[in-house]
Amino acid sequence: MAIKTRLTDFFGIAHPIILAPMTPAAGGALASAVADAGALGLLGGGYADRQWYDEQRGKVTNPKVGCGFITWAVENDPELFDRALQDLPKAMMMSFSDPAKLAPRVKAAGVPLICQIHTLEHAKRAIDVGADVLVAQGTEAGGHGLTARSTMPFVPSVVDLVSRTAPSVLVVAAGGIADGRGLAASLMLGADGILMGTRFWATQESLIHQAAKDKVVAASGDETIRTTVYDIVREKAWPEIYTGRLLRNDFISKWHGRESELRTMHQDERAKVDAAWESGDYDTANVTVGEAVGLINDLPSARDVVTRTIEEASHRLTAYSPSLRLAS
Ligand SMILES: Cc1cc2nc3c(=O)[nH]c(=O)nc-3n(C[C@H](O)[C@H](O)[C@H](O)COP(=O)(O)O)c2cc1C
Repeated sequence: MAIKTRLTDFFGIAHPIILAPMTPAAGGALASAVADAGALGLLGGGYADRQWYDEQRGKVTNPKVGCGFITWAVENDPELFDRALQDLPKAMMMSFSDPAKLAPRVKAAGVPLICQIHTLEHAKRAIDVGADVLVAQGTEAGGHGLTARSTMPFVPSVVDLVSRTAPSVLVVAAGGIADGRGLAASLMLGADGILMGTRFWATQESLIHQAAKDKVVAASGDETIRTTVYDIVREKAWPEIYTGRLLRNDFISKWHGRESELRTMHQDERAKVDAAWESGDYDTANVTVGEAVGLINDLPSARDVVTRTIEEASHRLTAYSPSLRLAS
């Protein structure tokens, strides 16, 4: 079973699905498994941590894997960005802050440029700097983003903008999509495909502690929150507009709303969070997932996620059409 779109044509892949380049879940094994299943796997280059990149790059077994970085964090190791363009030339995804400075390097390398965007202004900017693909991320998404827009109205607005101003640019929907219903709906909104983070986070291959995965399987979509407390405690220099969506836990209950106080004692708290991350105490460590967590009841392989998503979307799309009754 296959769903062909402009996205599958552009990348020469079987399915219009992209793995979000999640830090640190999307390592070499997950990105390769997604690519093996016929979708686009992106390694999570994240904060440009060379040691992590080298280790995980070594685990990439499929030559069709691309990479993604947090744009403002590339300055942590600019040379690593160029290496990734050579190592993983299938695609480069840039998210969070202005892509203008780095985009020419991607274009010069002949690598397809994917820009994650959160507002129409971001979309225009990404088009101006030569993006081939826009990932329109709604606030339902896991991880960082804005509170500004929701996936359902944002994606078709981006589709309209693109069709008026740059029709060759592709649009991918992201945020709250975890199954074939989400893929079918995204196609109906005019998107060329979907990008999923949270759903692939909860797979066998993702680099996440089993205790965190178990928490996610048990959680409902009502339990997430956008917050900055873990960025404060980890001293990540996120531009102020961005917050992260995570599963609520004791740490967030304690510190969300008390950010100034947390800033004064972040070193003590960081030691606790780092220890909790290692030991599997996710009442203290972060569980970074979005509202799609409410659609997740198991921990399948990445291949199963791709297969199920395509089968369900195909079924929904074909089953629904004959039941349409159009009044004249
Ligand atoms: C654990 C986690 C880490 C993420 N890290 C990154 C990242 O490093 N770079 C990035 O571009 N997006 C990152 N994202 C956001 C994704 O690219 C994507 O927008 C989001 O996962 C889509 O929403 P969903 O989680 O509902 O599928 C992350 C998401 C999650 C859940």
